[in-house]
Amino acid sequence: RTGRGACTVHRNPGPGQESHMNMTIEQAGLMLADPASYTDEARLHQALALLRGQAPVHLVAAPGYRPFYAVTRHADIMQIERDNALWLNEPRPILAKREFEELARGRAAEGIALKTLVHMDDPEHRVVRAIGADWFRPKAMRALEARVQDLARRYVDRMADYGGECDFATRIAVHYPLYVILSLLGLPESDFPRMLKLTQELFGGADEENRRGASAEEQFAVLLDFFAYFKELTATRRAHPTDDLASAIANATVDGRPLDDLQTASYYVIIATAGHDTTSSTVAGGLHALIEHPGQLAWLRANPDLLPLAVDEMIRWVTPVKEFMRTAAADTSLNGVQISAGESVLLSYPSANRDEAVFSDPFRFDVGRDPNRHLAFGFGVHYCLGAALARMELRALFAELLPRLDTVELAGQPEWTATTFVGGIKHLPIRYKLR
Ligand code: HEM
Repeated sequence: RTGRGACTVHRNPGPGQESHMNMTIEQAGLMLADPASYTDEARLHQALALLRGQAPVHLVAAPGYRPFYAVTRHADIMQIERDNALWLNEPRPILAKREFEELARGRAAEGIALKTLVHMDDPEHRVVRAIGADWFRPKAMRALEARVQDLARRYVDRMADYGGECDFATRIAVHYPLYVILSLLGLPESDFPRMLKLTQELFGGADEENRRGASAEEQFAVLLDFFAYFKELTATRRAHPTDDLASAIANATVDGRPLDDLQTASYYVIIATAGHDTTSSTVAGGLHALIEHPGQLAWLRANPDLLPLAVDEMIRWVTPVKEFMRTAAADTSLNGVQISAGESVLLSYPSANRDEAVFSDPFRFDVGRDPNRHLAFGFGVHYCLGAALARMELRALFAELLPRLDTVELAGQPEWTATTFVGGIKHLPIRYKLR
């Protein structure tokens, strides 16, 4: 690969330049339970570097949350994800406030709580994952590729229609991946705006701009709306099966029995939500990284064969999924810290993906990075089901955009989502010239 040496490389956000003296380990740990932390990536990465270096398995007791151990090193996260008999997804797959966890437990007892792949462990997880798995394999991806390329072209054309200036995050990045995933599910285009609003409300729970309301009750109401929509979809697909993922889910059987309403709705919800904000954050964050690193943008434009590597570097750089959690099934120890059965660990993917022990110069955005052993898609049996799809979407969009993009620059300050789970740039004002 030629050209790497010729690039201008900016090194932000990186903790290397500033000291950690303005933050204690306690404060760094607490940041992981504060949605606002994720709106300031430079400071977040200072905290994560401090934890990685000095307290890689650190007990966090944040107000409003049950205590958890923050795990920040790449090797420790891999070790946990590899051992899915010891480290269970249930009963605490993601970080949520105590109040929300209690409400969820109550709803589960009443039989009206969401139970998706990330809420399951083997053997149930293996069986249920297999229902959708074929739809994400390379053969299915090849069948979908032309449709994805068509959508990519439509969205780049739409940028042209905006006349050289737009908020790329809200106008383009947020729509394109949802429309890909809803096409795969087989939903009609007329329903796409409604799904967009519901997925934003579901994942934007901590962000005032996106959420429906602050209370756990209001956030549950969003889930119930999803259920109502998908219940009807299941009934339609059972009566009139079609060749799409929604039909596969509606007509699947486990032990000879069809899935019940809650199981089918949970499947649709995980596909529609997991496939959406993750990829849209990476589309926006990927473009932002290219704008901030003009040398890398020029190098990529001159060497389009680098695109697959560049896409993985965007995914590492953005790391839109901030955490998943696991709970110990038995007493154990991790990196010298004793953890009792029933205690939980938070896997910090943004931290793993800047781990100095794995990545050379981790705070350098390098579109030619190879190898790139990032953990943005997780690892082990829960490894992201949609990883191949996400990579294909990102490739298709940038393959369409980059050759047509004469110039691009920021037209205002980007803003990040307040979240502890999934997010990234939510506003990216840009000015550009398109061919
Ligand atoms: C699970 C990241 C896009 C569907 C996950 C996990 C992560 C992740 C970290 C948990 C893995 C673990 O526990 O080890 C991402 C990122 C994406 C992305 C960074 C985009 C850049 C997608 C897309 C889909 C999808 C496009 C499509 C439907 C899923 C599903 C799971 C999952 C169904 C649950 C898998 C299981 O528990 O077995 N993803 N994801 N994701 N993802 Fe993605």
